[in-house]
Amino acid sequence: MRDSGTLASVASRRRCEFLQDVLTGLGTASKNVPCKYFYDKRGSELFDRICKLGEYYLTRSELSIMEASAPELAEQIGPGAMVVEFGSGSSVKTRYLLDALLECVAYVPVDISSEHLDHAAAELASDYPRIEILPVCADFTKPFELPLPTRLPSHSAVYFPGSTIGNFTPELAIALLRRIALLVGQGGGLIIGIDVNQDVAQIEAAYNDSLGVTARFNLNLLRRINDDLEGDFRLDSFEHRALYNAELGRVELDLVSRIDQCVTVAGEGFTFSEGEAIHTEYSYKYSIPAFAALAASAGLSLHRYWTDRHDNCAVLHLVADAQETGVLVSRAN
Ligand SMILES: C[S@@+](CC[C@H](N)C(=O)[O-])C[C@H]1O[C@@H](n2cnc3c(N)ncnc32)[C@H](O)[C@@H]1O
Repeated sequence: MRDSGTLASVASRRRCEFLQDVLTGLGTASKNVPCKYFYDKRGSELFDRICKLGEYYLTRSELSIMEASAPELAEQIGPGAMVVEFGSGSSVKTRYLLDALLECVAYVPVDISSEHLDHAAAELASDYPRIEILPVCADFTKPFELPLPTRLPSHSAVYFPGSTIGNFTPELAIALLRRIALLVGQGGGLIIGIDVNQDVAQIEAAYNDSLGVTARFNLNLLRRINDDLEGDFRLDSFEHRALYNAELGRVELDLVSRIDQCVTVAGEGFTFSEGEAIHTEYSYKYSIPAFAALAASAGLSLHRYWTDRHDNCAVLHLVADAQETGVLVSRAN
């Protein structure tokens, strides 16, 4: 249990990093703010609403794979594991895995959104009394400490759903996958969800939903900067934009200034001309072979994968530093 002094210093360090990243990002020629800052309490709630939207095929597709194939995924992980989830959010998909795993010793949800994480972890602890639930609030792109479960696990496995890996450029994705390979150790496994959709109209609709929830999610970043960093963004003078860049195979999310304007953050001024954008998020789409090649350069070999019946999404089992013994594929109905 951390004391209130430690919690206050963690909060102050996180605020400093947020401020530094925002000042640096807005100070560059192509303005940007890292997408991890979407996720405060309100941002996580908005993301959960996005997951339920008709247009957002990703969650539905990945859930259908988990529902159909959790026992097979659990078999890949094996008994006695400690499962560490990167970017766990509400841990909805994870429940399929926890239900199917044999003698799972502990589940470690890792997320940057502290209140949302605590809430999800409390619900899991009540629903899974046999599994030790050990939440870690951390930025998984940086080193963080794993908790020690009361019972010793036979091994650790990483679960990384939601196509969150698609938020990273390929170079940064490789760096993150390398760290995951080190965490699970030789022969250890990673179960990862990726977006393999190739239908441009469907992809763009998913990020431009008719109810405007994704627009609110994107604009919430400016609200958060106002609240946490003494910003004075006028939310109605920026608009959400999500476009698919076919050449680079990614959706690009931006906040576009509707007018010429000056904004201050923590006393520092930034000018925007009409039409100028703040880049907020990438969402890369991959073919299975392209993602397998990327993972291979991070020391992870594709062992098996599952897709949904529309081939929108894939869940891959990758093994660290293992000899590839052939790739199996299954499709959910
Ligand atoms: C796209 S959502 C996926 C949520 C959930 N895993 C799912 O599949 O629906 C990304 C999640 O990762 C978390 N996240 C994003 N960047 C992070 C970072 N750098 N460190 C830790 N968590 C992060 C967010 O708070 C959010 O819960």
